[in-house]
Amino acid sequence: MFGAEPCFALAASVCIGTIVSAQTGTNPSNSEPTKSRDQFKNVRVLGDMPADQMGKVMNMMSASLGVNCSYCHEGTNFAVENVGHKDVARSMISMTLQMNQAHFGGAAQVTCNTCHRGQAIPNSLISTNLPIGRSSPSKNVTEGNSAKEVLAKFDKARGGTAKITAIKNRHVIAERVEPNGKTEPEELWQAADGRSRMVTLYGNTIVAEGFDSKNTWKSVNDQPIVLKVDEGEQIQREAQIAMGVDLHSVYKEIAFESRVDWLGRPADVLRGVSFNLIEERLYFDVENGLLVKRTAQVPTVLGAFEYEVLYKDYREYAGVLHPTRLEFAVPNIRWARRVSEIKCNSVLDEKLFRP
Ligand code: HEC
Ligand code: HEC
Repeated sequence: MFGAEPCFALAASVCIGTIVSAQTGTNPSNSEPTKSRDQFKNVRVLGDMPADQMGKVMNMMSASLGVNCSYCHEGTNFAVENVGHKDVARSMISMTLQMNQAHFGGAAQVTCNTCHRGQAIPNSLISTNLPIGRSSPSKNVTEGNSAKEVLAKFDKARGGTAKITAIKNRHVIAERVEPNGKTEPEELWQAADGRSRMVTLYGNTIVAEGFDSKNTWKSVNDQPIVLKVDEGEQIQREAQIAMGVDLHSVYKEIAFESRVDWLGRPADVLRGVSFNLIEERLYFDVENGLLVKRTAQVPTVLGAFEYEVLYKDYREYAGVLHPTRLEFAVPNIRWARRVSEIKCNSVLDEKLFRP
């Protein structure tokens, strides 16, 4: 039942996870990642790519060109030849991989987006509106508060450590908002130690995900979905941040990186590296101390696949500020969460956090 369409209707992880598990199934006990040529039917240029990057790379190509899957594929029959722009895309993939190999020591520096920027045909003309004769591009400031100071300021801005730690759990009533305005009911439960459960209702389809302090899991109508490492991390992260879990225990390392301009206001950026070595960046408004944005960059053969979360409309519940509008984006997929109510310290069934 899951093909190209639910890629737009459901969260990225449902879509991507389903593509992979629906083909032949991965072997979790095998430490060598399965190659694309061993899992997919008709790959000629991406054969060496780890198979679990396929969903990410396809969504990145679509987003870079501003098209959807049907630009290069017929329905969900992704292996079929002579469809749309599939062959041109293949030559473009080879070109991009070769450029990186020949000129950037194999690092994925040139990506589809380097040239395409959301257009199927890149604009090679130079805009006449560009500023002329600047001596060098503007630089981010590399001095600001230390990670410890930024995080302490965030705690204080939310209401203080005492009030934050007094919240043992949150029960969040929300709506998932699609780009076309359509909404689906969403409910979250989060505990102080980072355990969580989220349920989203798409008509008759129930998507649930959670973290029980050992395992991260996800299911569609009670059918388990195979999660990739980064998807598991992202599922854990929102509860950890909302519940004020010490970020020094969440990341292998976390440090101040730069002070940047974020929508006209200065923001301090902390760079964290997760225990699975995925880079994340947390943006804190310098004036009010609040977290305004978080990104995670997952490497692929065609550059980083980026998760982005924007935290907006902080409101007070149990003396602590919580964002009530969260905007999520990954290449090709975008959605938001609108929170209508947060109940703190209700009596929760421990079983909630298990699959
Ligand atoms: C710009 C063209 C383009 C777009 C857009 C695109 N693809 Fe692809 N896709 C390709 C090409 C080219 C291949 C074959 C790669 C190769 O030969 O190594 C492919 C292969 C695949 C495969 C492997 C099929 C197999 O078994 O051989 C899957 C699955 C896939 N695409 C899914 C998607 C999905 C899902 C989307 C939309 C999110 C998408 N693609 C968007 C060009 C595209
Ligand atoms: C170095 C720049 C560059 C990179 C990198 C690049 N492209 Fe292109 N691409 C172009 C240019 C230029 C054209 C237009 C060629 C023309 O008009 O004939 C094009 C055209 C295309 C077209 C045909 C569009 C149409 O409607 O005719 C597809 C599909 C495409 N690119 C896919 C990709 C994909 C997928 C990637 C990444 C794997 C990629 N390109 C990376 C420069 C690039």
